[in-house]
Amino acid sequence: MEQLSAVVGRSADQLLVRPLSPALGAEIVGVDLAEQLDEGTFEKIREAWHRGLVILLRNQTLSEEDEVRFAERFGPPAVLQSKQFMRTHPAVMLISNIREDGKPIGALPDGEMQFHTDQCYVERPAMASMLYAIEVPKSGGNTLFANGYTAYETLPEDIKRRIAGRLALNAYDYDNASTIRGAAVRNDAPSYVHPVVRTHPATGRKALYVNRLMTRRIEGLPPEESEEILNFLFAHQERAEFIYEHVWRPGDLLMWDNRCTLHARTDFSPNERRLMRRVTILGEKPM
Ligand code: SIN
Repeated sequence: MEQLSAVVGRSADQLLVRPLSPALGAEIVGVDLAEQLDEGTFEKIREAWHRGLVILLRNQTLSEEDEVRFAERFGPPAVLQSKQFMRTHPAVMLISNIREDGKPIGALPDGEMQFHTDQCYVERPAMASMLYAIEVPKSGGNTLFANGYTAYETLPEDIKRRIAGRLALNAYDYDNASTIRGAAVRNDAPSYVHPVVRTHPATGRKALYVNRLMTRRIEGLPPEESEEILNFLFAHQERAEFIYEHVWRPGDLLMWDNRCTLHARTDFSPNERRLMRRVTILGEKPM
């Protein structure tokens, strides 16, 4: 019996989906990602993800391989550009403030981060990002998720008209603290121009695709007008009613859709350890 369940895995009717907040998010209960998932169960998870934008599976005990195997069900994991914080698999990276011999063992080590979407400065940004919590601080270091569909749908009609068909420059050029939106873009900073509003290829819904951390300007507009519109969009998309704040527990596996959400991180004490394992999944060129 034991052996059979390892081969066949969980069946879809053992799975429960419950909302995480009015803004977005779905918790999936009754699934152990260390086991093989049958097609029916996986389809229910994917559907919950498209509806919820963010999915959470608690109490998981996952090896690197388990996390990658789950990620691969959605699409090819994005291989890391820099090997600095890579684990055994070329798509697995640590996010951590832990230092060994004075050097961080992971990326994005410290404190607060402004709202952003992952890899928006490349031609094919990550479709999804997955974080698995190994060690978490007693307080803070929460991840905030904002609903990009609702942000777009609730915009005033005149703003929708002003941004229709516009492109914006996204650049990876923020300071280490990730809280300051710089004025100029370094010439050698990785950057890419993407639509201000993108259409999700699976749901067909439109989402706002700019963010405070990395979107620098709307192309083709005078700088003051571009700044005025961007500041309006940032404040709008970060409204409390569009946000779910995730308070981490060790064993949480959380996956978000970068095509229709933004995320940010709250501050936490440098004296507390935070250790996460991240896998991102390659996406398509935003349209
Ligand atoms: C990230 O922005 O990918 C990291 C988020 C976090 O550390 O909570």
